[in-house]
Order: sequence, then C-alpha cells, then structure tokens
Amino acid sequence: MNRFITALAIAALLLGVALASPSAAYPGGTPGFQTDVAPFCATCHSSLTESALAGSGERAAKMLAENHHLSLISAGEKGYAALSPEQRTELVAHIRALDEASTVAIEAPAEVAAGETFQVTVSVTGGAGPAVAIGLVDAAHRNLARAAPAAGWQVVGAPAITGQDFKEQTGWIARRPEVWGRNLSYVNVTGVSSDATTGDWGHARVVWTLRAPQEAGKRPLAAAYWYGTEKASPHGFTTDPIRGKQVRGGFGGHSGRVRFSDVLQVEVK
Ligand code: HEC
Repeated sequence: MNRFITALAIAALLLGVALASPSAAYPGGTPGFQTDVAPFCATCHSSLTESALAGSGERAAKMLAENHHLSLISAGEKGYAALSPEQRTELVAHIRALDEASTVAIEAPAEVAAGETFQVTVSVTGGAGPAVAIGLVDAAHRNLARAAPAAGWQVVGAPAITGQDFKEQTGWIARRPEVWGRNLSYVNVTGVSSDATTGDWGHARVVWTLRAPQEAGKRPLAAAYWYGTEKASPHGFTTDPIRGKQVRGGFGGHSGRVRFSDVLQVEVK
C-alpha cells in the first residue's frame, strides 16, 4: 500500500513537472529546465572573448560574436537577407551596443570559515530578454566550467532572484518540486528587456547562500551569464501571431551570448 502511495505521489509530481513545463525553447531561456546547468550547453551562443574557449584551436576565434554572428548580418546571409543594407548596419550597431551594456559581476567574501554559510551576489545588466540565465560555476570556460557545487560550494536553499522591476521572482524556480530541493546553482530571470534604440538596458540580481567546504584552501567561484541580443533591436526579430517574437537569426542562429564574471579565488580557512 505504502509503495502504491509512493508511486502515485511520484506520478503526480512528474505530471506536475510536465504540465508546468512550457516547450523548452532557448530563445526565451530555459523555462522547462530547472536544474544545474553548465555553459557547454549553449553551443549556438557566441562569445565575446577567445579566452572563454581557450585550448579549442581555431574554434575559439570562430565562436566570437564578430565572426559567428555579426559578420553574417553584415553579409545579409540567412534570415538577415530580408533586411536592407541600412537596416543590417543598424542591427549590427544595436547588437554591439547591447553587448557593451551587458555585464556580469560577482561579489563574495575573500575568506570564509570551513563549513560556514555565506552569501554571493551576482548582478547582471543588458540582455535582450524576455529572459536571461545566470549560474555559479568554477571556471570562465565554455567547455570546461562545472556547476559551482563541483568545486565544493554547496548551495543552501533557493537562490533569491530579483527581476528588472526590483521584485522578487519565484515563478521559474517553483516549477521544480520543492521536495527535490530548489537549491540550484542556475536560474532564469524573466521579465527582462533592453531597447537598443533608446539605450534602456535590462538588469537583474541573484543572491545565493552557499556553504563552504570542510577542507581549507583556495577555491574558484565565478558567474556565467546567458543572454540574447536580437530582440533588443526592431530589426532583430519578426513577430509571429502565435509564437510571438522570432529572432532573425533563427533558433539555430548565433545571437545568444554566454559570458563570465571574473573568477574569484575564495579562501576557505
Ligand atoms: C540551437 C541553438 C541554441 C542552443 C543549443 C542554446 N541556445 Fe540559448 N539561445 C539561442 C538563440 C538563437 C537565442 C536567442 C538570442 C536572441 O534573442 O538574439 C538564445 C537565447 C538564450 C537565452 C536568452 C533568452 C532570450 O530569448 O533572449 C538564454 C537564457 C539561453 N539562450 C540559455 C541557454 C542555455 C542555458 C542553453 C543550454 C541548456 C542554451 N541556451 C542552448 C540558441 C541556442
């Protein structure tokens, strides 16, 4: 009987997860994935620095926004062919301005006691919206970074997410059943928007509570930031009556970005 009730409870839980998950589209963030995420997932996104792909040979330069994304717009390839040369020039300028305005900063104590709990604040700006994603990782590298708990930083409780309206958000993380733990190292912030024509940029903040490991020594801690660019420009999307804003570069395009904060070396004493 007990087993039956457990099975029923799990079935109800999974049904809840399935119903709560809108289609897991990438433009729009990851509304359907409530789990720890590593930056390698964002294969389509572009980088702003080659160091984020150090050791990848020619691929590191190929993945730069300049070569992977902006050059396609300038050349009028793919979805960008529908734009006039002037619109393409403007779209490139808008995206450059958005990238310039998109930042990610991490604040944490320089030293913590073994086993101590402490807070880490990650602040981001920019991002075209409607969502951005932020995660705690152990390296500023797209292929090698792991979620921060792998470096010994245990996430305690659900991260506190503050949106662009300065209000706390729980909608995204609440799609993960509470009994499974909402102590994630990765979150989506919804309701973010930027407008490159007016220079109004998005912003958001996430505060994590972490528990330091028991072993003394320095350990790395950084933030990863995933955002889109094209929806911040009137030339960057078309509007579908059912699916809403559709980016010019398409689902498989390279208008997404993945960037990193400085890598802190927090000393556990
Ligand atoms: C198939 C290519 C592709 C993959 C793989 C991909 N993305 Fe993206 N992603 C995009 C595109 C295209 C955009 C839209 C960028 C824009 O608005 O210009 C985007 C945008 C985003 C955004 C911002 C939302 C928005 O609409 O602007 C987030 C957050 C994001 N992706 C996270 C992720 C994460 C996390 C992963 C791995 C689990 C991932 N992406 C994998 C293509 C991809």
